[in-house]
Amino acid sequence: MVRATTITGWGMSLPSQVRTNQDLEKMVDTTDEWIQSRTGIRERRIAGDDESTLSLALGASKQAIATAGLAPEDIEMIIVATITPDYGFPAVANLLQDALAARNAAALDINSACTGFLAGLALADGMIVSGHINNVLLVGAETMSRVVDWSDRSTCVLFGDAAGAAVLQVSENGGGILKTLLGSDGSGAMSLFAGSGSRYPASAQTDSEGHHYLKMDGREVYRFAVKAMIDSTRETVNKAGMSLDDFDLFIPHQANSRIIKSAIRELEIPESKVFTNVDRYGNTSAASIPVALCEAIGEGRIKPGDNLLMVAFGAGLSWAGTALEWTAPVPGGGISHGALDTVENL
Ligand code: UT7
Repeated sequence: MVRATTITGWGMSLPSQVRTNQDLEKMVDTTDEWIQSRTGIRERRIAGDDESTLSLALGASKQAIATAGLAPEDIEMIIVATITPDYGFPAVANLLQDALAARNAAALDINSACTGFLAGLALADGMIVSGHINNVLLVGAETMSRVVDWSDRSTCVLFGDAAGAAVLQVSENGGGILKTLLGSDGSGAMSLFAGSGSRYPASAQTDSEGHHYLKMDGREVYRFAVKAMIDSTRETVNKAGMSLDDFDLFIPHQANSRIIKSAIRELEIPESKVFTNVDRYGNTSAASIPVALCEAIGEGRIKPGDNLLMVAFGAGLSWAGTALEWTAPVPGGGISHGALDTVENL
C-alpha cells in the first residue's frame, strides 16, 4: 500500500490588536502611501502583553486538531516552525505539547524563518511516508513584533504576528503531498538576521547596540526573493512531473505584494489563481502560508481534488516549495480571529 501525507486539519490564530499604516505614521517617519506602494501592506496584527508565540500556536493547534477530528493524544509529533520562540530553549513545541496535553507526541522546533512551515511539511512528509508515524501537528507561529526595532522604518512596517497550524495524516488513497522542494544559500545569511544568540550574548553593551533586533538588507532580499519564488515554483512543478496549468491555486509566502506580482508575471500565472492576504497581516514569517491556507479554505477557494502550489523564501537564505492535491472535505470553520489563550493561563 502506498503511503501519502494529507492535510486533514487546519486552524489559525491572530492577536486582536491591529496596527495600521496610519498608526505607524505616528511612530516613525513613514507614510501609508509609501508602505502600500512598496509592499501592499495596509495593516498587521500585534501580540498584546498577555500573548506570545506559544499562546498563538495553541489557539491555531486546538482548531487544527478539532478540524481533523482527532484528540491531542493521537498526535505523534509536534513541529513548530518559528524564529520567535518564547524562550531560547526549550522549544515552543515542548511547551505546546504540555499545553495541549498531547502526551504521545515528540516535539521539536525548526528555525527556517519564512520557509519554516514548508520545511516542516517536507520533514513531516518524510516521517509519514517512510512509515515512522501517522499523525503530525505542524505549526507556523511568530511574534515578529518582539524582534523588530520599532524605530527602524525600513523593517518595522513589514512584519506582523500570527499562527497557523495543520494536522498531517497518512493516507493510503493517494492525493496529498505530491512533491516537496527545499533549498538554501547560506552565503546570503547576513542579509536578514537577528543577533540574539551566542554570537552576541545578552549584555548591557549588546542590548544598547541593538544586536537582538531583526536587521535586513531590503534590496538584496528583494532581488533574492523574486528569483527564489520563480525558481522554486518551476522546480517544484518539474519535480512533480506536472505543468503550471495543472494547479488550481498558488499560495506564495506573503512577504510583499510587489514580490508576488513580479514572480507571477514572469511565471504567467493569472492573478485569479493566486491567494494573497499580505494587505491585512504583513509578513508573518512561518505563519504566513498556513494562515493563507486557512483563509483560502474559509473563502471557499479550495475543494477536494484541487492541486495547490505553495512556495516560500526567507532568511537563511532559504526556499521551499510544495505541490499538493487537496483531499479533505472543507466544511468551512477552522478560523478564529483572536488568540484563544494568553500566556498567563498556560
Ligand atoms: O521574508 C523575507 C522578508 N523580507 C522581504 O521580503 C523584504 C524584501 N525587500 C523589500 O520588500 C523592499 O526592499 C522594501 C519594501 C523593504 C524596501 O523597498 P525599496 O523600494 O527597496 O526601498 P529602499 O530600501 O530602496 O529605500 C528607498 C527609500 C530610502 O530613502 P532614500 O535613501 O532613497 O532617501 C529609504 O530610506 O525609501 C526609504 N524608506 C522609507 N520611506 C518611508 C525605507 N523605509 C521607509 C518607510 N517609509 N517605511
